[in-house]
Amino acid sequence: MMPAAMPRDKGTRPAPKLAPSILSADFARLADAVVAAEAGGADWIHVDVMDGHFVPNLTFGPKTVADLSKATRLPLDVHLMIERPEDWVARFVEAGATYVTVHIEAARDVAGTLDAIRGAGAKPGITLNPETDVARLLPYLDRIDLVLVMSVHPGSGGQAFIPSALDKVRALRAALDARGSRAELEVDGGIKPENAGDVARAGASVLVAGSAVYLDPEGVRAALAKFRTAIA
Ligand code: DX5
Ligand code: ZN
Repeated sequence: MMPAAMPRDKGTRPAPKLAPSILSADFARLADAVVAAEAGGADWIHVDVMDGHFVPNLTFGPKTVADLSKATRLPLDVHLMIERPEDWVARFVEAGATYVTVHIEAARDVAGTLDAIRGAGAKPGITLNPETDVARLLPYLDRIDLVLVMSVHPGSGGQAFIPSALDKVRALRAALDARGSRAELEVDGGIKPENAGDVARAGASVLVAGSAVYLDPEGVRAALAKFRTAIA
């Protein structure tokens, strides 16, 4: 038996989970979007919360999360692209978020915000913009259940994958394995069936995909099947 803290071998790592981002769904039919994702075999639902300040776009608040939590049994993976996340995390946890992820560039008291998420009963995550160095995250790895690598500049769906994100994924995979951490390593932005294999091989455990799932002309189920084939 391998001890639990032993770094997992690349060959034995399970295929990554798929987390469709409802950012590219029809906002007037969000419940249908999460039901379709669940029926199509998605593992999580990724909810992109934008405040018009941290990023130049506006999306959802806690009530949307609360209403979506009634429409699906899948974990709700809430990605907060907002200033002052510390003012909001408890409300998103109360609304039913499973994971609440904050940007290291936005939180003033990063450790306090992560601890507030856990204290409220959800799993804390931390993320960083493409121009932010991975080294800034390292002091927080023992406090989190999820690290999110942004592979586009946050703010909108449908952008091109930034290849240097793969180096960050490899560095974080090594850092997590060295600690024996079981935290999820999620990658978000520009992921398609064509590059999903590269992201998986770099060490990701969760892949977010918005436009490649909800804007696939063949539908959500077919899109998810293409991802499964790509990362099998
Ligand atoms: C970007 C969001 C992403 C986005 C991904 O700000 O955090 O979750 O929805 O969309 P695609 O997969 O289209 O890049
Ligand atoms: Zn996101």
